[in-house]
Amino acid sequence: MNAKEINDKLPRHVGIIMDGNGRWAARRGAARTNGHTEGLKAARRVVERASLRGIHYLTLFVFSTENWKRAASEVDFIMSLVKRHLMRELDFYRENHIRIRHTGDTSGLAPDIIAEIDEARRGTKGFDGLQVILALNYGGRNEIIRAARRFLRQTAAASSDEAAAALTEEELSRCLDNPDVPDPDLIIRTAGEFRVSNFLLWEAAYAEYFITDKFWPDFSIDDFDAALAFYAARERRFGANSESGAAVQ
Ligand code: FPP
Repeated sequence: MNAKEINDKLPRHVGIIMDGNGRWAARRGAARTNGHTEGLKAARRVVERASLRGIHYLTLFVFSTENWKRAASEVDFIMSLVKRHLMRELDFYRENHIRIRHTGDTSGLAPDIIAEIDEARRGTKGFDGLQVILALNYGGRNEIIRAARRFLRQTAAASSDEAAAALTEEELSRCLDNPDVPDPDLIIRTAGEFRVSNFLLWEAAYAEYFITDKFWPDFSIDDFDAALAFYAARERRFGANSESGAAVQ
């Protein structure tokens, strides 16, 4: 496949499970926190590359609803890294017209982190370039539950039977954290694990998966380009078969 063919079949939305920061550090006899610091650098270069390549949406799995089980010192370190990142990178986002958004359960986040996310969101709201969605305190099941609760609160059904009948895939999708964001086309996972890890469970129903053995801090822009080339070569069927003519792309 040549560069033009790959560019003609770019995913609109890419999600990334940035795994392997801890193992990257362990291989070097370094503290896990060093792995996260390097992981942040990798995230920045991938954001830059995705913007350059004309990707519309990039969701980064920064912190899961399960990551609270880690040592408090590691959790604090990741949160402070995110905070510093949001404060420092605003100029970079403005220059590149990148819009920052969030997905996840804000009720579990500290007020200073929420304030920082809100400021980044507000400061970049009008930008029409790449939309970077930070999945922070995010879990797919948690998002689906919150969406179902939103639906029930909003629905004017007279009975539970009426509410049950009104609940469709479209209605639930409308109650997700960012209903205007299209489903991810491509999910990248580093560190060689073949697991979904509660990432975009609802949205990734038909996503293609690109899994690499590389640890996240080693993930390069060439690796990102390789994932885009992999995606371009996939035949997406969305449940149809190749003869039915229902394949998209
Ligand atoms: C996985 O490595 C990574 C995380 C838990 C998230 C940390 C992510 C970053 C620091 C990047 C932050 C990016 C932005 C844009 C704010 P792991 O610790 O699970 O690795 P392991 O499985 O090898 O232990």
